[in-house]
Amino acid sequence: MKKKIAVLTGAGISAESGIKTFRDSGGLWEEHRIEDVASPEGWRRNPQLVLDFYNQRRRQLLQVAPNRAHYALAELESKYSVTIITQNVDDLHERAGSTQVIHLHGELLKARSVLNEHCIVPCHSDIKLGDKAPDGAQLRPHIVWFGEAVPEIENAIPKVREADIFIIIGTSLVVYPAAGLVNYARYEARKWLIDPNDTPMPLVPNLRFIQQKATVGVDMLVKQLLADV
Ligand code: APR
Repeated sequence: MKKKIAVLTGAGISAESGIKTFRDSGGLWEEHRIEDVASPEGWRRNPQLVLDFYNQRRRQLLQVAPNRAHYALAELESKYSVTIITQNVDDLHERAGSTQVIHLHGELLKARSVLNEHCIVPCHSDIKLGDKAPDGAQLRPHIVWFGEAVPEIENAIPKVREADIFIIIGTSLVVYPAAGLVNYARYEARKWLIDPNDTPMPLVPNLRFIQQKATVGVDMLVKQLLADV
């Protein structure tokens, strides 16, 4: 029986692929107001601005590639049962080969009906006003906006609870319920947090801090974990 690993990732794991984080200097929230481009109110006020924001990020995603950290996590699956729980809306974990990925905040390469959150279609190009979902309603990005429910958290919690190893990579842990996942890890689970900056450490037992950027820190930890088995 393979040991279970749960990994919580944030924008930091995709930074070295060239995708901006949100709260680092020069981050996305310095260029846009969250309430204008990532909230239901912003969508109601100016849907074109919201569509432009996600169209621009989707176009960029199609130009970038997974980095060493994404690939290292995929390699863990050879000896562990790995669940990636990501706050990221990119598909870099999947492109790197991870097979169990939970997207807490939605996916940039999907769109859905404004009337039915379960009416979801693939989306690899711009969404325009007037583009319709199969149910005839306007298409919107399949992204969880601030103030909206995070249904995938229900699938993520048991994965953290049952993990023998819990790894946190590249997240400022300021957005809930994602950040609250750290409290579900078992006391005796081995835990690591990988981040190049002095991110505030969550108060959880047995947590080790690897102060490195993801391509270095994740690669180093994965090599160690693969050697352990
Ligand atoms: N490697 C690893 N971590 C990095 C790197 C790197 N190369 N560069 C930056 N980081 C770290 C930063 O130090 C920070 O702790 O990544 C984290 C990025 O934090 P945020 O920008 O807040 O991103 P994230 O935690 O994913 O934001 C959570 O907030 O805006 C919402 O929905 C959005 O999913 C997002 C959520």
